[in-house]
Amino acid sequence: CGIVGMIGQVGTKEILLKGLEKLEYRGYDSAGIALVGDDVHVFKEVGRIAALRDIVPVEAEGAIGIGHTRWATHGVPSVPNAHPHQSTTGRFTLVHNGVIENDEQIKATLDVPFLSETDTEGIVQLMDKNFVVLNDVEAAFRKTLSELHGSYAIAMIDSEDKERLYIGKNKSPLLVGLGDGTFNVVASDAMAMLQVTDQYLELHDGEIVILTRESATIKTLDGDVLERAPYTAEIDASDIEKGTYAHYMLKEMDEQPAVIRNIIQHYQNDAGDIELTEGVRSLVSEADRIYIVACGTSYNAGLVGKDILERIAGIPTEVHVSSEFGYNMPLLSSRPLFVFLSQSGETADSRAVLVEVKKRGYKALTMTNVPGSTLSREANETMLLHAGPEIAVASTKAYTAQIAVLAILAYDIARANGKELPFELMPELARVATIMDSIMSQKELFEDLSDRYLKTTPNTFFIGRGLDASVCLEGALKVKEISYIQAEGYPGGELKHGSIALIEDGTPVIALISQPKTNLNIRGNVKEVVARGANACIISMQGVEHENDEFILPHVEPILAPLITVLPVQLMAYYAALARGCDVDKPRNLAKSVTVE
Ligand code: G6P
Repeated sequence: CGIVGMIGQVGTKEILLKGLEKLEYRGYDSAGIALVGDDVHVFKEVGRIAALRDIVPVEAEGAIGIGHTRWATHGVPSVPNAHPHQSTTGRFTLVHNGVIENDEQIKATLDVPFLSETDTEGIVQLMDKNFVVLNDVEAAFRKTLSELHGSYAIAMIDSEDKERLYIGKNKSPLLVGLGDGTFNVVASDAMAMLQVTDQYLELHDGEIVILTRESATIKTLDGDVLERAPYTAEIDASDIEKGTYAHYMLKEMDEQPAVIRNIIQHYQNDAGDIELTEGVRSLVSEADRIYIVACGTSYNAGLVGKDILERIAGIPTEVHVSSEFGYNMPLLSSRPLFVFLSQSGETADSRAVLVEVKKRGYKALTMTNVPGSTLSREANETMLLHAGPEIAVASTKAYTAQIAVLAILAYDIARANGKELPFELMPELARVATIMDSIMSQKELFEDLSDRYLKTTPNTFFIGRGLDASVCLEGALKVKEISYIQAEGYPGGELKHGSIALIEDGTPVIALISQPKTNLNIRGNVKEVVARGANACIISMQGVEHENDEFILPHVEPILAPLITVLPVQLMAYYAALARGCDVDKPRNLAKSVTVE
């Protein structure tokens, strides 16, 4: 979910709506705003911000307002469940992101009717109750928040007070944006408010802020005032525009060569050698095993990273899904290093693991695309992806960026340990970028493959071996996410042990073949499915012997092949989604940044 809020003069409504549009990547199943004019007016609608715009009257205005775009957790997407929520007295109105774990206990103490299925309504009603006892809004706000267990980012308005906005945060992201003395804003993400400011105040868990037009006072839940200097958000507003592109996803796929070049530039010194910070170097030098923890596409990038780290750096590496790892930790080595891979740096599942490993006294390195994000701030060290804002829900450039940065880390460890390096990494990455350019300039070929293999199918398989199998998982994920085709990524040799039963006449099977040592084996697996009626599409790489291949990619070092083999599958997924009339950038049921566990 995404939150915005503003206390200012006029024009609040438009700034809130624009801010919400920038936050739609956090969820878009319903949205709402509350504006304080003579009275508090709440507008809510199911669906996108565009649908909310349609129902907000042109004349609606207010000097104070809050807004929310929702990714449903408690209760279906509906107008009653959409935020903002109001207390029965109508005095308090708030928006919330997060999950309140003691929601049922809270509601059991409140003798009021509940109009929604959300945990948020419990918070605003509790606020009413605490205010009756304390007769002081700020004290009631602090007491209310201290009674919540779980995660929250909250912005609240008091209908009797046009001079203050109340803000609180615990385990869910929230920032204050500082205005020019006539207004201040609040948002889940700096991107939402870049339109009005680049000056931000970071908030920590368990803090509240009293926001007026001229000031932002940070306090603890006990009421102690905290001092904190603002920082400048270094995001270029033009980076978050689509420009002439039809979709963010297309733009972001196209940016991949530039991202690789950016990464080379950031991680090499004048002599052309890899240069990591001393902090990162000392973290990895102490480790006897790496545990990569991630979700979704980042997890898939981690699978590739594991191979690179083990083969190049010789360091045992495991990859784990965050939501599993947090609750089912494996036996750890004596000197584990945790590497959190996260495009957004905000994923709650990953953050929960980070909190747990820190509690156990272990060290963590975060690889993220967002400087200053929660996972970055809370880890011991950060390596940035330098991919620029990624807006499309389906991640593309962050995947290739993660693999490149993991390779840089592997090379640095290898060199520090005196291991022989199989090839020079940075020049090879530069070549990868050039090859990426050439693939992206032939998009129509992959549109054609997508038309022939994916456009009308209800299901498909991606098969490969070794590193190709890892890319197949990512290919299948891309296809599932945006085109809603049931897709499975499978190690080619394993198919015959069960899943081959799903192959029928015409089932598309896309085989990725870049690894010379398993070339013959995977081609044997392709023959097995073709013999059972499959419609096989082989995408291979120079350097392996081919036969009936649809497309042969230029050669790169096999260990870096995923940086290249993923492009055709990203493009095929994109064109399949387009051909099937799906919303490419905002697929159903998903959110780009999932800040609830
Ligand atoms: C969400 C997105 C995925 C993403 C995953 C992990 O589920 O829809 O595309 O891969 O979160 O996100 P992160 O920001 O931690 O990489």
